[in-house]
Amino acid sequence: MNHNFQKDINAGLSASNKTLSSKYFYDKIGDALFVEIMNMPEYYLTKAELDIFKNQNKELINALKLDKTTFFELVELGAGDGTKTKQLLKALDDLNYDFRYAPIDISDNALKQLKTSINKELPKVQTEPKQGDYFDVLGSLKTAEHPIVVLFLGSNIGNLPDARAKEFIQKLDKNLKIGDKVVLGVDLIKPKSVVLPAYNDAQGITKRFNLNLLARINKELDANFDIETFEHQPEYNEDEGIARSFLVSTKDQTVTINSLEKTFTFKKGEKIHMETSRKYNDQILNGILQGSALKITGRLTDSKDLFADYILMKI
Ligand code: AVI
Repeated sequence: MNHNFQKDINAGLSASNKTLSSKYFYDKIGDALFVEIMNMPEYYLTKAELDIFKNQNKELINALKLDKTTFFELVELGAGDGTKTKQLLKALDDLNYDFRYAPIDISDNALKQLKTSINKELPKVQTEPKQGDYFDVLGSLKTAEHPIVVLFLGSNIGNLPDARAKEFIQKLDKNLKIGDKVVLGVDLIKPKSVVLPAYNDAQGITKRFNLNLLARINKELDANFDIETFEHQPEYNEDEGIARSFLVSTKDQTVTINSLEKTFTFKKGEKIHMETSRKYNDQILNGILQGSALKITGRLTDSKDLFADYILMKI
């Protein structure tokens, strides 16, 4: 069993405002539920970013100001299924750019599947997956003389609270050299009527996605959460631009986590904060980039202006 998982769950449920980290959503069941989320009609983020990668890949390549005669490495943080990235890889390949694609992921299995599908669909693209921690791998690339372009897509940065997003950017900055670039995909601030349904879908998939973490704690930490007694409650504050998901206890109850030899009490109506999904604009992103050498040099949005891929350059 993962020691960090146990430690983080204990700390989160012992806090006066209970919280669990959404990074633990992604076990096998969570991965499958996230695929379902990406296909839901209400979840516009993935479709909007795919629109950019499908219909503006030439603009994206131009904005990256790549030199056709210089070899570069396209490093993606998080492997995913590659649907968006393949659009860019195909365009780079068609335009005869000299590059290698290096997806980084903690999951060897995700990387193997991605490499197989790219080899099949884009046989000329050189793919070199790297298994491990993002920053360990990026650090090992720092000595490379060739330029690096990092892809961090899907508004994954939005799941980090601002202070953590700032730390992430600082680390990214330290692991790049001057002239290296980043394509950062972020969801844009927009009205509640659009954002909230994306986290409160009619079919209840997002609810299952959140509750799955309680089921995971039951399985992996020998706990007895009664999943039926927690309700999913998403909120969105448009002024802040932050969506938050909570699970709310529908009754006074106690939950025992045997592996911790500890019991936690929940009052009726008490919330567990499960996830933060920050939405961005130029000002917020500039605040996050402040203190780093990464500067915004370009910005592409989808046809409905829902989502942006920012181009950052280390100067
Ligand atoms: C992965 N991440 C960007 C998603 C988001 O929109 O915050 C995770 C998610 N949570 C609920 N729905 C999707």
